[in-house]
Amino acid sequence: MSEENVKKIRNFAILAHIDHGKSTLADRMLELTGTIEKRKMKDQVLDRMDLERERGITIKLQPVSMKFKVSGNEEYLFNLIDTPGHVDFTYEVSRSLAAVEGAILLVDATQGIQAQTLANLYLALEENLAIIPVVNKIDLPAADIEKTKNEIMELIGCKEEEIICASGKTGEGVADILQAVVNKVAAPSAKSAGGGNDKSIYEKPLRALIFDSTYDEYRGVLAFIRVMEGRIKKGEKIYLMATKAKSEAVDAGIFTPDYKSTGELKAGEIGYIATGFKNVNECRVGDTITNVNFAAQGGIGLSAPVTGLKGYKEVKPMVFAGIFPQEGNEYQQLREAMEKLKLNDAALTYEPEHSDALGFGFRSGFLGLLHLEIFQERLKREYNLDIVVTTPSVAYRVFLKSVKSLDQRRLKNIDADGALVIHSPHELPDLSQIEKIEEPWVTLDVIIPKDYMGAAMNLIQDKRGVYVNTEFINVTRAILHYTAPMATILTDFYDKIKSVSSGYASVNYEFSGYKPADVVKMDVLVAEDEVESLSMIVYRDEAFRRGKEVVETLKETLPRQMFVIKLQAAIGGKVIASERLSAMRKDVTAKLYGGDVTRKRKLLEKQKKGKKKMMEHGKGSVEIPSDTFIKILKR
Ligand code: GTP
Repeated sequence: MSEENVKKIRNFAILAHIDHGKSTLADRMLELTGTIEKRKMKDQVLDRMDLERERGITIKLQPVSMKFKVSGNEEYLFNLIDTPGHVDFTYEVSRSLAAVEGAILLVDATQGIQAQTLANLYLALEENLAIIPVVNKIDLPAADIEKTKNEIMELIGCKEEEIICASGKTGEGVADILQAVVNKVAAPSAKSAGGGNDKSIYEKPLRALIFDSTYDEYRGVLAFIRVMEGRIKKGEKIYLMATKAKSEAVDAGIFTPDYKSTGELKAGEIGYIATGFKNVNECRVGDTITNVNFAAQGGIGLSAPVTGLKGYKEVKPMVFAGIFPQEGNEYQQLREAMEKLKLNDAALTYEPEHSDALGFGFRSGFLGLLHLEIFQERLKREYNLDIVVTTPSVAYRVFLKSVKSLDQRRLKNIDADGALVIHSPHELPDLSQIEKIEEPWVTLDVIIPKDYMGAAMNLIQDKRGVYVNTEFINVTRAILHYTAPMATILTDFYDKIKSVSSGYASVNYEFSGYKPADVVKMDVLVAEDEVESLSMIVYRDEAFRRGKEVVETLKETLPRQMFVIKLQAAIGGKVIASERLSAMRKDVTAKLYGGDVTRKRKLLEKQKKGKKKMMEHGKGSVEIPSDTFIKILKR
């Protein structure tokens, strides 16, 4: 493209609540623009991972470049980024938004505005993006277009004629959306990239934002970039401003959505570069790529030093779990797999951990339980690793009577207020040393039809939520505003609120701060051995109920053994709940017929003795299936 042609570029993201049809609408755009031939088209083509297609959810952001002639017969280059809708993957959305100038806000006409519609809209407004409102799925008989339009007008204060009606199924409205993108979304400019306007955007020193990355066995680290200023060519020596790492751009290209080498990317464009980095720590999302010549203060031939772009806020993990290889000798493989996965999952955090029972592993942070589940699944599929996951826990702040007894490692976890931050039940110090414990709270927004409000409010109260207020979207639907402990919302709240509202409620939450909590550590014993991975922190007044639930769930989930197994929950060594998992009884008398009672009794006696022996030997060797914690949490 010539200098003038930056004016013919439009970069935008598609935002919506989960399942409102982002990936399907993107399919129609790819067809209309001829980016993918109709015969090669498959549903939700931008969901690149098998896992996404099987589950029908988008997990990763996905960019794609399309060329299309809109009215007036002028060809435009559209760079679209499809984003996930689930709250656990919001970081993917916010990173996408920093790389574009506009956003399509899709609302399903049968559902109306939902919790992530609002959350994503606010993210887009923070980035000052142009918003194009679209009512989607208008082909469905249950679509209520008028009502949805009214909700949108109320929300963003736009006029009715600005809202486009579309269907990702029939393709209706898709050309209008692209036309609106041309009219309303600004072309990239040095100004939108945060720089001055004195030079052409192409002539400025290179500054490109890394908004995502992945690891390629052959080409090393691939960085997904938005070039803000200047240009980057294959073979160019690059410098990363935050990590100070140097390398060579082995390749540069665009997404079709496959990688297509073009040899160069210019200001305003979105694409990838193969960085040549083999060490995954050298390339981080949010970093700025420039040319090695501009790295030194002032650079060569520059009047002022090149400064890094704004980058991203660090994400705050909400829930933590221990990750251990199932086979102890796979620790090294696990470490390498996690490093590579981190490149493609920027919200993942981890640090090494050692446990007496589980060996070497990692304490990892996630944005929610779905994030953790997906992570576990990806390790298995992409790296062929089976792992043990300990019961997830939020981070607690523990105020100690004295920090003198803490070792060096734990002193590092003292925060600015002097509290010890713990991410695992095992880090909880002895009760006698504790002055108070605090837990994280969230602001909770639930969008719900009026008829289900009562049931929802009862549920939230059960979850220790504190009512703030109710805001009506229209006469039939409202937003309930609450605050609640994060620990009660992360577990089964989502499933339960869906169930009490016949699926109509939607939920969004955000960390808001810490509040005092009366909690204790509960241990779980199987065959009288403590199972470290199942320990959890529970509210003192719920401990008996939780203990009972846990041993009952274990009884249902654990495979039966040749001997009876005791299942117990205990607090500070005192058993608070107990169950027995009966033995698998092999029918040793099967071959007997007739009424020889003594012979039968003898055989059974022999079996009993054998089992006793096995139990003595087999104590603690009961294998706990790796998904047990999910079953326990979701009870
Ligand atoms: P996430 O990324 O997981 O949040 O989902 P999404 O917003 O990308 O939604 P997706 O495109 O996966 O569509 C969700 C479901 O709605 C799928 O079953 C689609 O087939 C269906 N769907 C999407 N758009 C339309 C539409 O315009 N009309 C009809 N009838 N169905 C649609």
